[in-house]
Amino acid sequence: MNIELKKVNKIKGIIEVPADKSITHRAVMLSSLAKGNSVIRNYLPSQDCMRTIEAFKLMGAEIKADENVLYVKGAGLRLQKPAAAIDAGNSGTTARLLSGILSGQNFESLITGDESLSKRPMKRIIEPLSKMGAQIKSNNDMLPLKISGKSPLKAIRYENDKSTAQVKSAVLFAGLYADGATTYFEPVKSRDHSERMLKAFGAKVETDGNCVTVHPVEKLNAMEIDVPGDISSAAFFIASALIVPDSELVIKNVGINPTRDGFIEILKKMGADITFDNMRNVSGEPVCDINVKYSKLKSADIDFSVIPRMIDEIPIFALIAAQADGITRITGAKELRVKESDRIAAIYTQFRKLGIEIEELEDGLIINGCSVNKFQGGTFESFKDHRIAMTLAVASLIAENEITIQNADCVNISFPDFYERLKSVCR
Ligand code: S3P
Repeated sequence: MNIELKKVNKIKGIIEVPADKSITHRAVMLSSLAKGNSVIRNYLPSQDCMRTIEAFKLMGAEIKADENVLYVKGAGLRLQKPAAAIDAGNSGTTARLLSGILSGQNFESLITGDESLSKRPMKRIIEPLSKMGAQIKSNNDMLPLKISGKSPLKAIRYENDKSTAQVKSAVLFAGLYADGATTYFEPVKSRDHSERMLKAFGAKVETDGNCVTVHPVEKLNAMEIDVPGDISSAAFFIASALIVPDSELVIKNVGINPTRDGFIEILKKMGADITFDNMRNVSGEPVCDINVKYSKLKSADIDFSVIPRMIDEIPIFALIAAQADGITRITGAKELRVKESDRIAAIYTQFRKLGIEIEELEDGLIINGCSVNKFQGGTFESFKDHRIAMTLAVASLIAENEITIQNADCVNISFPDFYERLKSVCR
């Protein structure tokens, strides 16, 4: 599906964004492993999260959806052997986190994925999980993965030179099935939803700086969870209000976990008028309402020290940087090359078409921004990557001519009604 979008006068209104994708995946996984009935309110019914739900239904969890609530009767830590292969679709989080859980089962299982996921690296989970005793066969370190689980797994101490919450979570989930305490170290702290949720479900988890230790458990307890709005989805609305003159927007009920707030921190340093209201704690996660107004921005340099806290926001951050006066350098972001698309290449090629002065680095981008630049229209490729499609949609708001986005329906991966919701705040 292609979509055509035109420039607008301003962005105004009060909205909510869909639930957090990372938290929804983890809530479905841990409630499926728990004993008893869990309730997940305001879950994200996007394509990625549906893959996780279907996977656990195949393995004995009873999961029913009613409006925006999921009712989960857990299967317990020992799952049923799935009758078929588990198709993770486009979802790296499903494939990688599930690998950790499947490593601790007493059966053999198979994880497959779509064309894009089948090209993404899996060595990063195969290595630690094999050290723990799982036998994993792959296609050159990519999907499909055939996992022969082992119980108990061997407790390890694992030091990663990358910061990745998916690998950390896979190891911590496997650690639930280990013969002792499993410790994981990462260079910069990645999102910590797994640690928070494991504790809430009754697992013993200790955090010391960038080191986290999980202890094996007998059982997890069922929970009631409220999932906040996804900061990574809110980022596209924050960007829209920041770059369209005269805009003012309130985004209600957004998760603002300190391991996810790099985007806001950097934007504030660049001069963005962003404030938080109604700060509260919901199911162990900090949540607030975000107010954002059009702002004249200056450039910034960002590197590896902040990238893990804004990894999914780099495409939309790069677009904002094109509207900030001066040169913005993004480095230490090589992981973007192995996301749903090669996001560095996608941003570089599509931004050049927009008329943005941009340079491609192996691990990032250099953007020569200007607050009065308008983008050029034309036909653009999303590379079937939801975050590239949404970035191009935001660019259209201030483009001189119409923007056509190819394969625009890939937004269903994380934000099913994105275009409608964007339209609802366009004036
Ligand atoms: C995620 C972790 C990040 C992020 C992805 C979701 C998660 O991936 O990019 O969208 O839910 O754990 P990496 O672990 O590869 O950095």
